[in-house]
Amino acid sequence: MFSDTLIQSIRDQFHHVDSCPYQGPRIFFENAGGSLTLKSVVRVNAGLSAIPDNQGRDNPASKAMGSIIDKAKQDIKTFLGVTQGQLFIGETGTECLFRVIRAAVMGAASGGQVLGSTLEHPATVSACKRWAAVTGKEYVAVPHNLETANVSAEDYQRFVTADTRVATIIQTSPVTGRLVDVPAVVNAIRAVAPDCLIIVDGIQHVPHGALHVENYDVDAYAVSAYKVYSRHNYGIGWVSHRLESLPHDRLEGTPENYWEMGTRDAAAYACFSEVVSYLDWLGARFSDSENQRQRLMAASKAIAAHENHLLDVMVNGNEKHNGLADIPGVSIIGGTDNEHREGVLAITVENVESAKVVSQLSENGIRVHLRTNDRYSGNILNPLGLESCIRISIAHYNTADEVEYFLKVMKSITKT
Ligand SMILES: Cc1ncc(COP(=O)(O)O)c(C=O)c1O
Repeated sequence: MFSDTLIQSIRDQFHHVDSCPYQGPRIFFENAGGSLTLKSVVRVNAGLSAIPDNQGRDNPASKAMGSIIDKAKQDIKTFLGVTQGQLFIGETGTECLFRVIRAAVMGAASGGQVLGSTLEHPATVSACKRWAAVTGKEYVAVPHNLETANVSAEDYQRFVTADTRVATIIQTSPVTGRLVDVPAVVNAIRAVAPDCLIIVDGIQHVPHGALHVENYDVDAYAVSAYKVYSRHNYGIGWVSHRLESLPHDRLEGTPENYWEMGTRDAAAYACFSEVVSYLDWLGARFSDSENQRQRLMAASKAIAAHENHLLDVMVNGNEKHNGLADIPGVSIIGGTDNEHREGVLAITVENVESAKVVSQLSENGIRVHLRTNDRYSGNILNPLGLESCIRISIAHYNTADEVEYFLKVMKSITKT
């Protein structure tokens, strides 16, 4: 867990940590919906938004925009842990996923299947279904395990075939918080379909954990900037050396492996450099390494340790408070085991509508999210016969005091 001094220094670097400009004082447990934003991101974004120049011209402002983009690309590569392939910025994480899935499915050999899982967000599922139908491939979804609310390598193993052309994997579920063992799933797929193009939706994992994208042996990875301390309105896609040159939407005259579309928003890139620079700062509290990647890994490790502690208090309680597991009437989707969970808990309260719990928490200054049986959460709720649940999602800038207060309020809500 972070020391009191460090957590304060961390919190000082984010906007609206303990108060909402529209609601007043509040605890922010809606991080899976979108993280808090770094103050440096807002500052840099505002400054660069005022610059009219684009890259690619012979003037100092244009050259500066070019350098900002080049630096950010290097920062993002270090952050993702990739040395090859192409990076591009798209409108959202969803848009990046649609683009890479479209290129993969259209570019893969004819016939065969596109494989995903029922744990996935509709961003990957919708794109896979659409492009599988267009190309005459079968779309197959590996059913996730209802008890653990996760999907495993063994689950994939049962459905992968030698003609699985494209496969998608969600790294962390935005509803259950379950962390999928991506390398194990990739091994299971590659053992049967070695040339399968594999796409990972890392959008919910990125704010919580270490990134070793190159080690995963996959072909594409997607990040959503507003989930990882940056701002709305852009996602980041990475495509492997193998996928980068498959036919894809591109302006004539650009290199075959070029994925950027149109005039670049230098501010979006610069904002991500600020994210990396913040994580670098955090990592330097835990590592003396001269190597930036090592410091980023140290930050990841420290974030995971802090968040795991918060999740442990939330579920199992401490000497002062019962955890959710011991509050009568509360059930946690996927069970009380936190081992493969990142930052997110989905709960129900017996005989109390989830919407009511969410509004009572809000009245007590705690922001969480109501998840209903819709296109975003139906895949998790439907098979459990649930109409709704309450999602509580933490980040590394949350504190044990906030968790304790939440537990106190939950106890009073469930009592009444
Ligand atoms: C796992 C996952 N994938 C994809 C998305 C879509 O990301 P975006 O909002 O950037 O389109 C989300 C958003 O919550 C998500 O949690």
